[in-house]
Amino acid sequence: MTTAEENALLQSVRHLHLGADGRSVVILDQTLLPNQERFLTLRTAEEFIEALTLLRVRGAPAIGAFAGYAAYCLAAELLDAPGACPGPRFQADFNAACAKLSAARPTAVNLSWALGRMRRAAEAHPEDPLSALYAECRAIQLEDIAMCRAIGEHGLALLKDGDAVLTHCNAGELAASRYGTALAPILLGAERGLHFSVYADETRPLLQGARLTCYELVRAGVPVTLLCDNMAATVLRQGLVQACFVGCDRIAANGDAANKIGTGGLAVLAHHYGVPFYVLGPTSSIDLSLPTGESIPIEQRDPEEVRSLYYAQPMAPAGVRGFNPAFDIASHTLISGIVTEKGVCRPPYTKSLAALFGR
Ligand code: MRU
Repeated sequence: MTTAEENALLQSVRHLHLGADGRSVVILDQTLLPNQERFLTLRTAEEFIEALTLLRVRGAPAIGAFAGYAAYCLAAELLDAPGACPGPRFQADFNAACAKLSAARPTAVNLSWALGRMRRAAEAHPEDPLSALYAECRAIQLEDIAMCRAIGEHGLALLKDGDAVLTHCNAGELAASRYGTALAPILLGAERGLHFSVYADETRPLLQGARLTCYELVRAGVPVTLLCDNMAATVLRQGLVQACFVGCDRIAANGDAANKIGTGGLAVLAHHYGVPFYVLGPTSSIDLSLPTGESIPIEQRDPEEVRSLYYAQPMAPAGVRGFNPAFDIASHTLISGIVTEKGVCRPPYTKSLAALFGR
Protein backbone atom coordinates (compact mmCIF):
# COMPACT_ATOMS: atom_id res chain seq x y z
CA MET A 1 0.00 0.00 0.00
CA THR A 2 1.35 3.47 -0.85
CA THR A 3 1.55 6.16 1.82
CA ALA A 4 -1.28 8.01 0.09
CA GLU A 5 -3.45 4.89 0.22
CA GLU A 6 -2.59 4.40 3.89
CA ASN A 7 -3.48 8.03 4.60
CA ALA A 8 -6.83 7.65 2.87
CA LEU A 9 -7.58 4.43 4.74
CA LEU A 10 -6.67 5.88 8.14
CA GLN A 11 -8.61 9.10 7.57
CA SER A 12 -11.66 7.08 6.53
CA VAL A 13 -11.99 5.77 10.11
CA ARG A 14 -14.16 8.71 11.03
CA HIS A 15 -14.65 7.72 14.69
CA LEU A 16 -10.90 7.52 15.51
CA HIS A 17 -8.04 9.15 13.65
CA LEU A 18 -5.09 11.49 13.99
CA GLY A 19 -6.13 15.14 13.61
CA ALA A 20 -5.15 17.04 10.44
CA ASP A 21 -2.70 19.16 12.47
CA GLY A 22 -0.79 16.00 13.48
CA ARG A 23 -0.98 17.07 17.11
CA SER A 24 -4.47 15.90 18.08
CA VAL A 25 -6.73 12.85 18.05
CA VAL A 26 -10.25 13.05 16.64
CA ILE A 27 -12.88 10.74 18.11
CA LEU A 28 -16.62 10.31 17.88
CA ASP A 29 -17.87 10.77 21.45
CA GLN A 30 -19.44 7.36 22.13
CA THR A 31 -21.13 8.53 25.34
CA LEU A 32 -23.59 10.58 23.28
CA LEU A 33 -24.59 7.88 20.81
CA PRO A 34 -27.07 7.08 19.39
CA ASN A 35 -28.74 10.45 19.93
CA GLN A 36 -25.92 12.78 18.99
CA GLU A 37 -22.89 12.40 16.71
CA ARG A 38 -20.33 14.77 18.19
CA PHE A 39 -16.68 14.66 17.17
CA LEU A 40 -14.04 15.76 19.67
CA THR A 41 -10.52 16.95 18.95
CA LEU A 42 -8.31 16.00 21.90
CA ARG A 43 -4.80 17.35 22.54
CA THR A 44 -3.76 17.15 26.17
CA ALA A 45 -2.94 14.28 28.51
CA GLU A 46 -5.92 15.26 30.66
CA GLU A 47 -8.26 15.12 27.66
CA PHE A 48 -6.91 11.75 26.55
CA ILE A 49 -7.28 10.25 30.03
CA GLU A 50 -10.76 11.72 30.48
CA ALA A 51 -11.88 10.26 27.12
CA LEU A 52 -10.61 6.81 28.10
CA THR A 53 -12.05 6.92 31.62
CA LEU A 54 -15.50 8.15 30.61
CA LEU A 55 -15.62 5.74 27.63
CA ARG A 56 -15.87 8.48 25.02
CA VAL A 57 -13.53 6.09 23.23
CA ARG A 58 -13.86 2.45 24.25
CA GLY A 59 -13.53 -1.17 23.13
CA ALA A 60 -10.22 -2.96 23.53
CA PRO A 61 -8.75 -2.57 20.00
CA ALA A 62 -10.00 1.04 19.74
CA ILE A 63 -8.38 2.09 22.98
CA GLY A 64 -5.13 0.51 21.77
CA ALA A 65 -5.24 2.52 18.54
CA PHE A 66 -6.30 5.64 20.44
CA ALA A 67 -3.43 5.22 22.90
CA GLY A 68 -0.94 5.02 20.03
CA TYR A 69 -2.10 8.35 18.62
CA ALA A 70 -2.36 9.94 22.07
CA ALA A 71 1.18 8.86 22.93
CA TYR A 72 2.44 10.28 19.65
CA CYS A 73 0.77 13.65 20.36
CA LEU A 74 2.22 13.74 23.87
CA ALA A 75 5.69 12.97 22.52
CA ALA A 76 5.33 15.81 20.00
CA GLU A 77 4.24 18.15 22.79
CA LEU A 78 7.30 17.20 24.85
CA LEU A 79 9.65 17.75 21.92
CA ASP A 80 7.94 20.99 20.80
CA ALA A 81 8.74 22.60 24.18
CA PRO A 82 11.45 25.29 24.04
CA GLY A 83 14.90 23.75 24.51
CA ALA A 84 13.59 20.17 24.36
CA CYS A 85 15.49 17.54 22.40
CA PRO A 86 15.51 13.76 22.03
CA GLY A 87 17.50 11.91 24.67
CA PRO A 88 17.20 10.19 28.06
CA ARG A 89 15.23 13.06 29.59
CA PHE A 90 12.65 12.92 26.78
CA GLN A 91 12.41 9.12 27.04
CA ALA A 92 11.82 9.30 30.81
CA ASP A 93 9.09 11.94 30.42
CA PHE A 94 7.52 10.02 27.55
CA ASN A 95 7.51 6.76 29.56
CA ALA A 96 5.85 8.58 32.46
CA ALA A 97 3.15 9.98 30.14
CA CYS A 98 2.51 6.48 28.75
CA ALA A 99 2.22 5.04 32.27
CA LYS A 100 -0.50 7.58 33.12
CA LEU A 101 -2.46 6.73 29.98
CA SER A 102 -2.06 3.02 30.68
CA ALA A 103 -3.60 3.34 34.14
CA ALA A 104 -6.84 4.81 32.75
CA ARG A 105 -8.36 1.37 32.01
CA PRO A 106 -6.77 -1.70 33.56
CA THR A 107 -8.62 -4.66 32.02
CA ALA A 108 -8.14 -4.28 28.25
CA VAL A 109 -4.56 -5.42 27.63
CA ASN A 110 -4.55 -3.65 24.25
CA LEU A 111 -3.97 -0.35 26.07
CA SER A 112 -0.69 -1.38 27.72
CA TRP A 113 0.21 -3.45 24.64
CA ALA A 114 -0.04 -0.41 22.31
CA LEU A 115 1.77 1.86 24.76
CA GLY A 116 4.53 -0.74 25.15
CA ARG A 117 4.96 -0.69 21.37
CA MET A 118 5.18 3.09 21.40
CA ARG A 119 7.76 3.14 24.23
CA ARG A 120 9.90 0.56 22.47
CA ALA A 121 9.65 2.46 19.14
CA ALA A 122 10.98 5.61 20.82
CA GLU A 123 13.74 3.69 22.59
CA ALA A 124 14.86 2.04 19.35
CA HIS A 125 15.26 5.43 17.59
CA PRO A 126 16.81 7.76 20.19
CA GLU A 127 18.03 10.20 17.52
CA ASP A 128 14.57 10.75 15.95
CA PRO A 129 11.89 9.26 18.20
CA LEU A 130 9.05 11.33 16.74
CA SER A 131 9.35 9.89 13.23
CA ALA A 132 9.45 6.39 14.71
CA LEU A 133 6.42 7.12 16.88
CA TYR A 134 4.47 8.50 13.93
CA ALA A 135 5.14 5.33 11.94
CA GLU A 136 4.27 3.12 14.92
CA CYS A 137 0.91 4.69 15.77
CA ARG A 138 -0.13 4.45 12.13
CA ALA A 139 1.03 0.82 12.02
CA ILE A 140 -1.06 -0.02 15.10
CA GLN A 141 -4.25 1.23 13.44
CA LEU A 142 -3.44 -0.21 10.02
CA GLU A 143 -2.85 -3.60 11.64
CA ASP A 144 -6.11 -3.21 13.54
CA ILE A 145 -8.01 -2.65 10.30
CA ALA A 146 -6.47 -5.76 8.73
CA MET A 147 -6.97 -7.77 11.91
CA CYS A 148 -10.70 -6.99 12.11
CA ARG A 149 -11.20 -8.05 8.52
CA ALA A 150 -9.35 -11.33 9.09
CA ILE A 151 -11.41 -12.04 12.22
CA GLY A 152 -14.52 -11.35 10.14
CA GLU A 153 -13.43 -13.89 7.53
CA HIS A 154 -12.69 -16.60 10.13
CA GLY A 155 -15.93 -15.86 11.99
CA LEU A 156 -17.95 -16.04 8.78
CA ALA A 157 -16.87 -19.65 8.35
CA LEU A 158 -18.71 -20.45 11.61
CA LEU A 159 -22.06 -19.19 10.31
CA LYS A 160 -24.46 -20.05 7.54
CA ASP A 161 -26.69 -17.67 5.65
CA GLY A 162 -29.80 -16.82 7.67
CA ASP A 163 -28.23 -17.45 11.09
CA ALA A 164 -28.97 -15.26 14.10
CA VAL A 165 -26.39 -14.55 16.80
CA LEU A 166 -26.63 -13.16 20.29
CA THR A 167 -24.02 -10.59 21.30
CA HIS A 168 -23.17 -8.66 24.44
CA CYS A 169 -21.77 -5.13 24.78
CA ASN A 170 -20.34 -3.62 21.60
CA ALA A 171 -17.56 -5.32 19.69
CA GLY A 172 -18.31 -3.65 16.38
CA GLU A 173 -16.60 -0.97 14.34
CA LEU A 174 -16.76 1.63 17.14
CA ALA A 175 -14.81 -0.71 19.42
CA ALA A 176 -12.01 -1.09 16.89
CA SER A 177 -11.22 0.61 13.58
CA ARG A 178 -13.18 -1.28 10.92
CA TYR A 179 -15.81 -4.05 11.31
CA GLY A 180 -14.87 -4.71 14.94
CA THR A 181 -14.39 -8.24 16.24
CA ALA A 182 -17.58 -10.03 17.35
CA LEU A 183 -19.63 -8.05 14.81
CA ALA A 184 -17.04 -8.33 12.03
CA PRO A 185 -18.50 -11.54 10.52
CA ILE A 186 -21.98 -10.01 10.61
CA LEU A 187 -20.94 -6.71 9.02
CA LEU A 188 -18.71 -8.39 6.46
CA GLY A 189 -21.48 -10.89 5.67
CA ALA A 190 -24.01 -8.08 5.21
CA GLU A 191 -21.66 -6.41 2.71
CA ARG A 192 -21.64 -9.69 0.78
CA GLY A 193 -25.42 -9.97 0.71
CA LEU A 194 -25.75 -12.61 3.47
CA HIS A 195 -28.77 -12.48 5.74
CA PHE A 196 -27.65 -12.55 9.34
CA SER A 197 -29.59 -11.09 12.23
CA VAL A 198 -28.51 -10.14 15.73
CA TYR A 199 -30.01 -10.21 19.20
CA ALA A 200 -28.24 -7.53 21.24
CA ASP A 201 -28.07 -7.53 25.04
CA GLU A 202 -28.61 -3.94 26.16
CA THR A 203 -25.57 -4.38 28.48
CA ARG A 204 -26.25 -2.62 31.74
CA PRO A 205 -25.10 -0.29 33.17
CA LEU A 206 -23.48 1.63 30.29
CA LEU A 207 -25.79 0.28 27.56
CA GLN A 208 -23.13 -0.34 24.93
CA GLY A 209 -25.43 -2.94 23.36
CA ALA A 210 -28.48 -0.71 23.14
CA ARG A 211 -26.66 2.50 22.28
CA LEU A 212 -23.75 1.33 20.12
CA THR A 213 -24.36 -2.18 18.75
CA CYS A 214 -27.90 -1.27 17.68
CA TYR A 215 -26.66 2.05 16.22
CA GLU A 216 -24.04 0.25 14.13
CA LEU A 217 -26.28 -2.58 12.96
CA VAL A 218 -29.17 -0.28 12.03
CA ARG A 219 -26.75 1.85 9.99
CA ALA A 220 -25.46 -1.30 8.28
CA GLY A 221 -28.98 -2.53 7.53
CA VAL A 222 -28.61 -5.67 9.68
CA PRO A 223 -31.83 -6.74 11.45
CA VAL A 224 -31.24 -6.32 15.20
CA THR A 225 -33.47 -7.08 18.16
CA LEU A 226 -32.69 -5.42 21.49
CA LEU A 227 -33.18 -7.30 24.75
CA CYS A 228 -32.57 -6.60 28.42
CA ASP A 229 -29.64 -8.65 29.71
CA ASN A 230 -31.93 -10.81 31.86
CA MET A 231 -33.81 -11.98 28.73
CA ALA A 232 -30.83 -13.84 27.25
CA ALA A 233 -31.85 -17.17 28.81
CA THR A 234 -35.22 -16.92 27.06
CA VAL A 235 -33.59 -16.19 23.69
CA LEU A 236 -31.29 -19.20 24.11
CA ARG A 237 -33.96 -21.52 25.47
CA GLN A 238 -36.30 -20.68 22.59
CA GLY A 239 -33.58 -21.46 20.06
CA LEU A 240 -33.76 -17.98 18.54
CA VAL A 241 -29.99 -17.86 17.89
CA GLN A 242 -27.50 -20.33 16.47
CA ALA A 243 -24.45 -18.92 18.28
CA CYS A 244 -23.20 -16.29 20.74
CA PHE A 245 -20.44 -13.99 19.45
CA VAL A 246 -18.71 -11.74 21.99
CA GLY A 247 -15.55 -9.66 22.07
CA CYS A 248 -12.82 -9.72 24.71
CA ASP A 249 -10.59 -7.35 26.64
CA ARG A 250 -7.98 -9.85 27.73
CA ILE A 251 -7.56 -13.60 27.30
CA ALA A 252 -5.38 -15.55 29.73
CA ALA A 253 -3.10 -18.41 28.68
CA ASN A 254 -5.72 -21.05 29.57
CA GLY A 255 -8.42 -19.36 27.44
CA ASP A 256 -10.33 -17.63 30.25
CA ALA A 257 -11.65 -14.45 28.63
CA ALA A 258 -12.41 -11.11 30.28
CA ASN A 259 -15.14 -9.12 28.57
CA LYS A 260 -17.91 -6.71 29.52
CA ILE A 261 -19.73 -7.58 32.72
CA GLY A 262 -22.45 -10.12 31.94
CA THR A 263 -20.39 -12.06 29.41
CA GLY A 264 -19.48 -14.72 32.00
CA GLY A 265 -23.14 -15.29 32.83
CA LEU A 266 -24.06 -15.46 29.16
CA ALA A 267 -21.38 -18.13 28.64
CA VAL A 268 -22.93 -20.23 31.43
CA LEU A 269 -26.39 -19.87 29.87
CA ALA A 270 -25.16 -20.72 26.37
CA HIS A 271 -23.44 -23.84 27.70
CA HIS A 272 -26.60 -24.87 29.53
CA TYR A 273 -28.74 -24.51 26.42
CA GLY A 274 -26.15 -26.05 24.07
CA VAL A 275 -25.56 -22.91 22.01
CA PRO A 276 -21.96 -22.45 20.75
CA PHE A 277 -20.22 -19.56 22.49
CA TYR A 278 -17.42 -17.87 20.55
CA VAL A 279 -15.00 -15.19 21.74
CA LEU A 280 -13.62 -13.05 18.91
CA GLY A 281 -10.57 -10.89 19.43
CA PRO A 282 -7.13 -10.03 18.10
CA THR A 283 -3.94 -11.69 19.28
CA SER A 284 -3.13 -8.31 20.88
CA SER A 285 -5.88 -9.14 23.43
CA ILE A 286 -4.15 -12.39 24.43
CA ASP A 287 -1.95 -12.15 27.52
CA LEU A 288 0.07 -15.35 27.88
CA SER A 289 1.81 -13.88 30.95
CA LEU A 290 -1.36 -14.56 32.94
CA PRO A 291 -2.05 -18.27 33.51
CA THR A 292 -5.79 -17.93 34.20
CA GLY A 293 -8.56 -15.36 34.34
CA GLU A 294 -8.07 -15.07 38.11
CA SER A 295 -5.04 -12.83 37.45
CA ILE A 296 -6.83 -10.46 35.04
CA PRO A 297 -7.33 -7.07 36.73
CA ILE A 298 -11.01 -6.15 36.74
CA GLU A 299 -11.88 -2.47 36.48
CA GLN A 300 -14.25 -1.29 39.20
CA ARG A 301 -16.36 1.71 38.20
CA ASP A 302 -18.41 4.30 40.04
CA PRO A 303 -21.52 2.61 41.52
CA GLU A 304 -23.44 5.74 40.57
CA GLU A 305 -23.48 4.35 37.01
CA VAL A 306 -25.72 1.54 38.26
CA ARG A 307 -27.98 3.81 40.28
CA SER A 308 -28.62 6.69 37.92
CA LEU A 309 -26.64 6.85 34.65
CA TYR A 310 -28.88 7.14 31.57
CA TYR A 311 -31.99 7.34 33.74
CA ALA A 312 -33.93 10.63 33.79
CA GLN A 313 -33.70 10.38 37.57
CA PRO A 314 -32.02 7.92 39.98
CA MET A 315 -33.71 4.51 39.98
CA ALA A 316 -32.60 3.55 43.47
CA PRO A 317 -32.92 5.26 46.85
CA ALA A 318 -30.22 7.82 47.61
CA GLY A 319 -27.25 6.30 49.42
CA VAL A 320 -27.93 2.68 48.47
CA ARG A 321 -24.69 0.75 47.95
CA GLY A 322 -23.88 -0.20 44.36
CA PHE A 323 -21.74 -2.97 42.86
CA ASN A 324 -20.10 -2.11 39.54
CA PRO A 325 -17.34 -4.40 38.22
CA ALA A 326 -16.97 -3.42 34.56
CA PHE A 327 -15.83 -6.85 33.32
CA ASP A 328 -16.14 -10.51 34.19
CA ILE A 329 -14.53 -13.76 33.08
CA ALA A 330 -16.00 -16.33 30.73
CA SER A 331 -14.42 -19.61 31.80
CA HIS A 332 -12.43 -21.38 29.09
CA THR A 333 -14.53 -24.49 29.78
CA LEU A 334 -17.56 -22.69 28.32
CA ILE A 335 -15.91 -21.28 25.19
CA SER A 336 -16.43 -23.21 21.94
CA GLY A 337 -13.72 -21.33 20.07
CA ILE A 338 -11.53 -18.21 20.20
CA VAL A 339 -11.50 -16.46 16.82
CA THR A 340 -8.38 -14.40 16.14
CA GLU A 341 -6.98 -12.84 12.98
CA LYS A 342 -4.81 -15.96 12.65
CA GLY A 343 -7.69 -18.44 12.78
CA VAL A 344 -10.01 -20.23 15.21
CA CYS A 345 -8.40 -21.68 18.34
CA ARG A 346 -10.08 -24.68 19.91
CA PRO A 347 -9.58 -26.34 23.31
CA PRO A 348 -7.20 -27.07 24.91
CA TYR A 349 -6.44 -23.35 24.78
CA THR A 350 -3.17 -23.65 26.68
CA LYS A 351 -1.88 -25.34 23.50
CA SER A 352 -3.81 -23.56 20.74
CA LEU A 353 -3.19 -20.03 22.11
CA ALA A 354 0.51 -20.68 22.72
CA ALA A 355 0.81 -21.99 19.14
CA LEU A 356 -0.36 -18.58 17.86
CA PHE A 357 2.82 -17.11 19.30
CA GLY A 358 5.03 -19.96 18.11
CA ARG A 359 5.39 -21.40 21.62
O1 MRU B 1 -16.05 -0.91 28.78
P1 MRU B 1 -15.98 -1.10 27.29
O2 MRU B 1 -17.16 -0.57 26.58
O3 MRU B 1 -14.68 -0.60 26.73
O4 MRU B 1 -15.98 -2.68 27.12
C1 MRU B 1 -15.85 -3.18 25.82
C2 MRU B 1 -16.01 -4.64 25.73
O5 MRU B 1 -16.20 -5.34 26.70
C3 MRU B 1 -15.82 -5.22 24.37
O6 MRU B 1 -16.58 -6.37 24.21
C4 MRU B 1 -14.33 -5.57 24.17
O7 MRU B 1 -13.54 -4.48 24.47
C5 MRU B 1 -14.06 -6.03 22.80
S1 MRU B 1 -14.21 -4.75 21.63
C6 MRU B 1 -13.84 -5.35 20.09
